[in-house]
Amino acid sequence: MELNVLGTSKVALTICRRLVEKSHTVGFVVSRFKENAQRFVKDIGSGVPITYDEIEKLSDVVFFAVPDSAIAQVYERTKDRILPGTCLIHFSGFHSSKIFANAEKLGFHRASMHPNLSFADPVVAQSNLLNCIFGVEGDAEGLRIAIELVEDISGKYVVLPEDGKAGYHLAAVVCSNFVVGLAALAERIYEKSGVEESRELMGNLIDSVAQNIKIKGVAGSLTGPVARGDWEVVKKERELFKSIFPQFASFYDQMVELLRSLKEGRL
Ligand SMILES: NC(=O)c1ccc[n+]([C@@H]2O[C@H](COP(=O)([O-])OP(=O)(O)OC[C@H]3O[C@@H](n4cnc5c(N)ncnc54)[C@H](OP(=O)(O)O)[C@@H]3O)[C@@H](O)[C@H]2O)c1
Repeated sequence: MELNVLGTSKVALTICRRLVEKSHTVGFVVSRFKENAQRFVKDIGSGVPITYDEIEKLSDVVFFAVPDSAIAQVYERTKDRILPGTCLIHFSGFHSSKIFANAEKLGFHRASMHPNLSFADPVVAQSNLLNCIFGVEGDAEGLRIAIELVEDISGKYVVLPEDGKAGYHLAAVVCSNFVVGLAALAERIYEKSGVEESRELMGNLIDSVAQNIKIKGVAGSLTGPVARGDWEVVKKERELFKSIFPQFASFYDQMVELLRSLKEGRL
């Protein structure tokens, strides 16, 4: 397929690199700034760098690789220059492809393909892409095309209900972004306790939890003082937590209550 890219995003760069390896071609790479488009094209080794004003006609597949809040606006700005029959695809986990308003009336197919992967580091993202599970949805033809592309990236996907994407994305936020927030707390506690090299410690611990969740499920992965009922330890650590994070004092109690509910099957 010929892939046209709107927005020189991290996600688009990683995905296009892989798809070019699998014999897809990149057509136009469109940016607000010519130099961004040129850099993107240089990075993947194919494509024609242009700005939005230079778009004449786009066809086949168009990736809307812009922040979630800009997808509708970029669509409005470009839809008159996209040929009917083109498949419009974005990568948002939150929005469905219905964000492409009146797509059917205008003759477009529509889909979204959300990679369940953090693109914070390009090298890490590139190496994990082959194992990435995509959340996909769309109209019949859009979904077919999105799945065909995913088959060439990792081959792993879940089909999402169009109207369930907000919940799907919230779950992803909780199990990825919230973990980073928890790690920030842990990092500070390690630091206060004089433990160095906490990055690797945390990384290994989180990896082991992730593996347990895959094999034993969430409830089966609970370990530690709450799971064992070591309430003396829970109480002492509560005081320590509150002395380090007075501003998040209630957070510890809420987490303990959450873990207790999980342990007792009340969640
Ligand atoms: N980052 C992640 O870990 C991740 C994971 C899964 C899904 N996603 C989804 O992937 C999509 C892209 O995210 P990303 O993190 O790859 O984005 P990103 O690297 O921040 O890049 C977004 C691109 O959009 C363009 N842009 C920025 N502001 C704009 C505006 N106001 N109007 C028009 N264009 C604008 C810029 O390109 P130009 O300067 O070239 O115009 C920018 O490079 C989003 O839908 C996001 O939800 C991201």
